Amino acid sequence: YTYENLIVEIENKIALVTLNRPQALNALNKNLLEDLSHFFDEALVDDSIRVVILTGSGEKSFVAGADIKEFASFDGKQGEQLAAKGQQDVFDKVEKFTKPVIAAVNGFALGGGLELAMASHFRIASKNAKLGLPEVTLGLIPGYGGTQRLPKLIGKGRAMQAIMTAEMFSADRAYEIGLVNEVVEQTELINRVKEIATKITQNSSVAIRHAITAINASDKEIGFDIEIKSFGNLFDEDDFKEGTTAFVEKRKPNFK
Ligand code: HXC
Repeated sequence: YTYENLIVEIENKIALVTLNRPQALNALNKNLLEDLSHFFDEALVDDSIRVVILTGSGEKSFVAGADIKEFASFDGKQGEQLAAKGQQDVFDKVEKFTKPVIAAVNGFALGGGLELAMASHFRIASKNAKLGLPEVTLGLIPGYGGTQRLPKLIGKGRAMQAIMTAEMFSADRAYEIGLVNEVVEQTELINRVKEIATKITQNSSVAIRHAITAINASDKEIGFDIEIKSFGNLFDEDDFKEGTTAFVEKRKPNFK
């Protein structure tokens, strides 16, 4: 299997996985999601991997979201399918992965990008990172678990404000509110995350597997279903056309 948009480097039981579409700030298109889905299936049964690190290629972006150009012409059914399939194939798989998954957030983590970082077990950011869920600027809501995972991580009120305003958190602010665990210089980011990963590889992998399952146990499932349905329904609204068209035309949306 050759990955189209992923670079996978395995060393000392640590898989460094780089999402590699720098021309689109590593936006999640169909290929990249398929690559990720495939990677996690393989990594689960690969004994040479004990910890996974996810990061973005380039110095500017972790992941700038789902690929807006790819879904701009979708209808409600396709929208719902996009969210449901992505959650099943990638985001749920990441969260429930029984080996630690660490997001090394090296720049923009927006929309589906922040959602991928939040599905990961914890996050370390570089100083230039900017994190947010800007979906409402497109006439959408988060569709890869953001409505469920953001309030869990930073509290309901902060999540409400972040999703309604679409504002981005700086790395320092993300640290203050517990969205990321540490902030380091960009040049140090991968080294620091590898250092943490190395520490993890020295601990009992069977114990860690059980810890992940226990920590994850909760009742978010209904919320995920509501999120997926709402995400799909929004594709049939005029605001979605206006929001995505404005993005492609590089102008501000004019919502009625
Ligand atoms: C497709 C994207 C993209 C995206 C950036 N690009 N983000 N393409 N989907 N999410 C492309 C741009 O179109 C541009 O390509 C190139 O990457 C560089 O981006 P610029 O905008 O020129 O860079 P800059 O001016 O520095 O602005 C960076 C940015 C901005 C603030 C991150 O790109 C931005 O706002 N991106 C969209 C963020 C967003 O709304 N994400 C949420 C998506 S919805 P060209 O070819 O024009 O040079 C989502 C839903 C998830 O994630 C749920 C799904 C079920």
